[in-house]
Amino acid sequence: MSTDAGPKRLIVTGGSGFIGSSACRNFVGAGHMVCNIDKLTYAANTDNLRTIENMPNYRFEQADICNRAQILAILDDFKPDAVLHLAAESHVDRSIADADVFVQTNVVGTVNLLNAAVDHWRSCGSSPDFRFLHVSTDEVYGDLEDDGSLFHETTPYNPSSPYSASKAASDFMVSSWHRTYGLPVLISNCSNNYGPFQNVEKLIPHMITRALGHKSLPVYGKGANIRDWLHVDDHVAALDLILWNGRPGERYNVGGGNERNNLRVVEGICDLLDELQPMKGKSYRTLITFIADRPGHDLRYAIDASKLMSELGWSPRHDFDTGLAHTVTWYLQNRWWWEGPTGR
Ligand SMILES: NC(=O)c1ccc[n+]([C@@H]2O[C@H](COP(=O)([O-])OP(=O)(O)OC[C@H]3O[C@@H](n4cnc5c(N)ncnc54)[C@H](O)[C@@H]3O)[C@@H](O)[C@H]2O)c1
Repeated sequence: MSTDAGPKRLIVTGGSGFIGSSACRNFVGAGHMVCNIDKLTYAANTDNLRTIENMPNYRFEQADICNRAQILAILDDFKPDAVLHLAAESHVDRSIADADVFVQTNVVGTVNLLNAAVDHWRSCGSSPDFRFLHVSTDEVYGDLEDDGSLFHETTPYNPSSPYSASKAASDFMVSSWHRTYGLPVLISNCSNNYGPFQNVEKLIPHMITRALGHKSLPVYGKGANIRDWLHVDDHVAALDLILWNGRPGERYNVGGGNERNNLRVVEGICDLLDELQPMKGKSYRTLITFIADRPGHDLRYAIDASKLMSELGWSPRHDFDTGLAHTVTWYLQNRWWWEGPTGR
């Protein structure tokens, strides 16, 4: 744990999702008192928290961040030192099909949480040590040409999808709560995460689990879209540092410097499965098919994380090839998790 001030009381929103559950496991393991607030949407999975659910320093509250009274009551009772806000609708394709819930949860829910946090913060004497860390995405910056350029913290926002537009709107709300009310907020903008416990609707687990079922592997367009992949544990390590040691009012970019186009990622998964669980007489690569591109599909994301590295001493520990191999192995060894009755 990067804080020297001993265990803290931490609210994690969205703690039953992919990144949130990794954060809960990390912070509970480090001895902090964690209260996970999660609505348990389709994206949640309570199995992600099996290892900590009975620990005395973990508590779960099923609640919607859009429900002001419920959120206020939880904050009043739990009295957090910090809020780590991850709850969101997070899947771009779903936002294209229906944007309403993205506006509701990502924008209205964030404003609701900010209001509750300000009330709580004021009731505790407006301590300068309180923290509200809003976890956002690099997608708010729009996309880049394939020319080596990077997203910096000063890059103007230019979101493309309803998902990234809703995250951009919530980021602006969070910074305005700092400027207007003085709430000690921080924002992190992270690139694409991967690792164990990720919902199978997302690219890497989607491809692994379809391949294991010998189904086609649908790649958008020509598979040329480039993402900067970061292992979820490296993201959580960054959040840990930003939360306790970041400067209130600041934003920090988080990214692994692992640029890969989608086709290369899918081929990498196929090659790993060819070694780990070979199909009779053919490679998994033969399952790859190309489908009509996603509307408004961003070409390339790439992060400059030098501020986080130089100010807070963060660096990613997982290189992509090893991290991908571990992830493929995890999905192979944990079929119960993704084939289970809760249906992921
Ligand atoms: N996954 C990535 O690659 C990535 C990258 C950068 C930033 N982020 C951000 O990190 C956060 C977490 O992402 P994730 O991939 O873990 O998402 P996820 O979809 O796996 O989990 C989201 C969690 O939020 C909960 N939730 C949704 N609506 C809620 C509501 N109204 N009230 C309470 N809980 C609610 C869900 O039940 C779920 O447990 C999101 O804010 C996302 O924008 C994700």
